Amino acid sequence: MEQDANRTKRRSRRIFICVAVVLVVIFVLALVLGLSRRNQGANGFQSTFIERCEKFNGPDCQNIWKVFSQAYVRRDPCNVPMEAYNALMAAASIQPVCNRELFWSKTKQIVHAFTAKRDCYITMEDTLLGFMLDGLTWCGKENSSETFTSGCPGWSQCENNPVRSFWNRASAAFAEAACGDVTVMLNGSISTPFSPASIFGSIEIKRLNYRVRSLNVILVTQNNTGTDCSNASLKDLLDTLGAGISYSCRAVPEAQIQACSSDPKRTCGPCW
Ligand SMILES: *[C@@H]1O[C@H](CO)[C@@H](O)[C@H](O)[C@H]1NC(C)=O
Ligand SMILES: *[C@@H]1O[C@H](CO)[C@@H](O)[C@H](O)[C@H]1NC(C)=O
Ligand SMILES: *[C@@H]1O[C@H](CO)[C@@H](O)[C@H](O)[C@H]1NC(C)=O
Ligand SMILES: *[C@@H]1O[C@H](CO)[C@@H](O)[C@H](O)[C@H]1NC(C)=O
Repeated sequence: MEQDANRTKRRSRRIFICVAVVLVVIFVLALVLGLSRRNQGANGFQSTFIERCEKFNGPDCQNIWKVFSQAYVRRDPCNVPMEAYNALMAAASIQPVCNRELFWSKTKQIVHAFTAKRDCYITMEDTLLGFMLDGLTWCGKENSSETFTSGCPGWSQCENNPVRSFWNRASAAFAEAACGDVTVMLNGSISTPFSPASIFGSIEIKRLNYRVRSLNVILVTQNNTGTDCSNASLKDLLDTLGAGISYSCRAVPEAQIQACSSDPKRTCGPCW
């Protein structure tokens, strides 16, 4: 009898210890997950910003963060115009680049695969600000000093949202920094490779200035099918291009550009 009672007591103590251990583990897991979840939000945004900034040599990243966040914090996220980023563009200015600027529209992936392996061409996303903010979403809210990464207006939801205004403002500066021969990769698989509503068509092409000698269009095609350089949409481009900038267009198969991107031995010369 007594032995049985002892055994029961021992067993219930063991069960108690097991339950306690499981509870502690659940508590610790919840804590860790909760903290990392919070980090992915606003704090995660700031640390991503700083980490990416620090990959570049020289910039005062804390100051750039401060000037950047002042553009949209405490503001209605549908009321942040391009000009809100003027101070940022002054703090992290884009230096003039001759003969190496590469613009793109609806060809983002292939363009970045092409520029990743070679320093020859520079896109907006290779500049300090473009690199730091590529792929990110952010906004502020009235009466709050925080940066939010969810619940922000979408690209087309309202025109003056913080993300769109940033890309408009930064792309304007990138285009103004262009000189010599500039290149743009357009998508030859769609019916209007030059879209007047795109950032390239509405902002960049209009900001190319007297320092630019020529604009070379590379129309990326699937084996020379689809739109070619005679397409009407490229006549719109010509009408928008400033007088004094010469123009050329060449259709280049996507496979040819991919071959260039994956050949590390090929030198800087163009691939078309
Ligand atoms: C051109 O646009 C189509 C449709 O949006 C897309 O599937 C394709 O990947 C684009 N081509 C290039 C070279 O980016
Ligand atoms: C912000 O605060 C002001 C004054 O307290 C108030 O009138 C306004 O509705 C608030 N805005 C938001 C979006 O909460
Ligand atoms: C383009 O040509 C290559 C090689 O001739 C072929 O492998 C590929 O399937 C072609 N692509 C299209 C979209 O026709
Ligand atoms: C050429 O452009 C027009 C309008 O700009 C478009 O409707 C048409 O589909 C394009 N042609 C081809 C072959 O894609």
